[in-house]
Amino acid sequence: MTRIYAIANQKGGVGKTTTAVNLSAYLALAGRRVLLLDMDPQCNASSSLGLDKNKVTVSSYEVLLGSVTPAKATLKNARLNLSVVPASPALAAAEIELVGELAREYRLRQALAAEVSKYDYVLIDCPPSLGLLTVNALTAANGVLIPVQCEYLALEGLSQLTRTVQLVRQRLNPQLEIRGLIMTMYDPRTALAHQVVAEVEKFFADKVFRTRIPRNVRLSEAPSHGQPIMTYAPASPGGQAYKSLAEELLAQDEVSAPPVAAPLRASPDGVPTRETADTP
Ligand SMILES: Nc1ncnc2c1ncn2[C@@H]1O[C@H](COP(=O)(O)OP(=O)(O)OP(=O)(O)O)[C@@H](O)[C@H]1O
Ligand SMILES: [Mg+2]
Repeated sequence: MTRIYAIANQKGGVGKTTTAVNLSAYLALAGRRVLLLDMDPQCNASSSLGLDKNKVTVSSYEVLLGSVTPAKATLKNARLNLSVVPASPALAAAEIELVGELAREYRLRQALAAEVSKYDYVLIDCPPSLGLLTVNALTAANGVLIPVQCEYLALEGLSQLTRTVQLVRQRLNPQLEIRGLIMTMYDPRTALAHQVVAEVEKFFADKVFRTRIPRNVRLSEAPSHGQPIMTYAPASPGGQAYKSLAEELLAQDEVSAPPVAAPLRASPDGVPTRETADTP
């Protein structure tokens, strides 16, 4: 079964893209077939992987409008063993262009339908709004991953997001669930971080992942090198945290059906990579 997770929070700068990119990379390292789909006109997930938004010719925009299939828009990062559908700034206009179109909330779901079975995971990086792009992602997904920044007022906005998830579940996509909340930019030295986690856990209980993502400068540097933390600084606290988040997610997802993982091997530059079927 393909797990399609929308990474959403209408609050800006909480770590959606950082989570989408790094979780995708570690899931791919663990041997899963992963598609990262960038649905944000800011194109941050695409550029975090070294893709130049001005050079992308086919993107999630065309997929959403139905003019190309996702396969046509998919780029393969061979080093990471990761498939990516990049975004384009044109996506900002899609919301207006689709006004008046029938079933516009189902566009992404319909486009992905024929192709998701090629993947174990499809992660969708959403923009910081609850507009049509995010609604398309929620309608296509079976779960929402919500990064929550450990700061004052973190809970504000979460109720609006959960209401939106509920509405999408009632009207568009009955299988949608809140898959989990990820506490990001966590600094255990501050009382505030502990308070925020305690409050979020009070409301969401075991939906909150045990792994906390620390505030770590390596995580903010990696995108400017076009790399996930897994290759840029795997031993950093941020690298360790996203690896552990991927392991936690996999362990929960695969309680019933553990897949057989391929063995790890070291690449020439010391970065662990996964043996693929076509490796001699
Ligand atoms: N754990 C972290 N430690 C340090 N910096 C981080 C961490 N997570 C994210 N950042 C940085 O914070 C900024 C916002 O993160 P990110 O782009 O992932 O958030 P976002 O929710 O996707 O933002 P937007 O809402 O604009 O799409 C980026 O510069 C990113 O590099
Ligand atoms: Mg983002």
